[in-house]
Amino acid sequence: MAEIKSVAVIGAGQMGSGIAQLAVTHGLDVWLLDTDSHALSRATASISSSVQRLVSKSQISKEVGADAMRRLRCTSNLEDLHSADIIIEAILESEDIKKKLFSDLDRIAKSSAILASNTSSISITRLASATQRPSQVIGMHFMNPPPLMKLVEIIRGADTSEETYTMTKSLADRFGKITVYSQDYAGFIVNRILMPMINEAFHTLYTGVATKEDIDMGMKLGTNHPMGPLELADFIGLDICLSIMNVLHKGLGDPKYVPCPLLVQYVDSGRLGRKRGIGVYNYSRSPKSSPRL
Ligand SMILES: NC(=O)c1ccc[n+]([C@@H]2O[C@H](COP(=O)([O-])OP(=O)(O)OC[C@H]3O[C@@H](n4cnc5c(N)ncnc54)[C@H](O)[C@@H]3O)[C@@H](O)[C@H]2O)c1
Repeated sequence: MAEIKSVAVIGAGQMGSGIAQLAVTHGLDVWLLDTDSHALSRATASISSSVQRLVSKSQISKEVGADAMRRLRCTSNLEDLHSADIIIEAILESEDIKKKLFSDLDRIAKSSAILASNTSSISITRLASATQRPSQVIGMHFMNPPPLMKLVEIIRGADTSEETYTMTKSLADRFGKITVYSQDYAGFIVNRILMPMINEAFHTLYTGVATKEDIDMGMKLGTNHPMGPLELADFIGLDICLSIMNVLHKGLGDPKYVPCPLLVQYVDSGRLGRKRGIGVYNYSRSPKSSPRL
């Protein structure tokens, strides 16, 4: 079985930049691709400052830090990804856009390359159906932020081969992650359980049961969670939470997965969470002040 030496990451947002950082700091050559050149500049600056922080805390040596930054290359040209052994997609959570990308990747990637998706909830089997290599398509679901969170969920599509699974798991092992394996059903393991909880927190706020601060404090201290569900939703991105609820509803067909109207309204009004400076909480004033409901 071939060893993975070079990685391409598509999407230089929250997740893609963290995955690229993991790969370069573990001695792999990385192409980071985004259609938005500003996203690439932001990702390079954020990877560089994280790597410097790791060096200053002696978590990696100066040499590994310098080597990591040399291994990172950015591009907006898909053809540059031809030499990658694995391509990890981390673009926005839209099935149509991801399918189009997988079909393009199938055309430009070398025949042995694995095509992985960091999707939070979209069917790997359906993404694989956009390619001529379904046995080499797999879900590699990192948690946010990828350099810190220990877990990677691995999802096999209906036709994913044993070799693709083993190579992907070895890459996650090399990154020092713990892996869990899920069948390819909407939400996989973590979001199947987490997102209905976040949605219920929105219902609790929407129906006036409690304030957002009390909902978050109740869940933090009452269930020993490091973050309350509403705070966590802002951290993940309310647009991502909404699209996962829609995938759960469509994929599993149960009305219990219908997104809360308040979550829908926040997304419609552009309150997407921390990345926009406003979500359930308003981050542009003080960290915990919030808009009126
Ligand atoms: N945010 C989370 O907590 C989290 C956790 C796990 C998985 N995910 C999944 O990871 C993926 C990315 O999420 P994110 O939070 O990093 O999103 P993000 O919005 O921070 O970044 C997405 C990036 O993709 C780029 N992009 C969009 N379409 C593109 C295309 N066709 N080609 C190249 N680049 C393109 C955008 O310019 C943007 O920079 C989603 O599938 C999401 O469900 C997110």
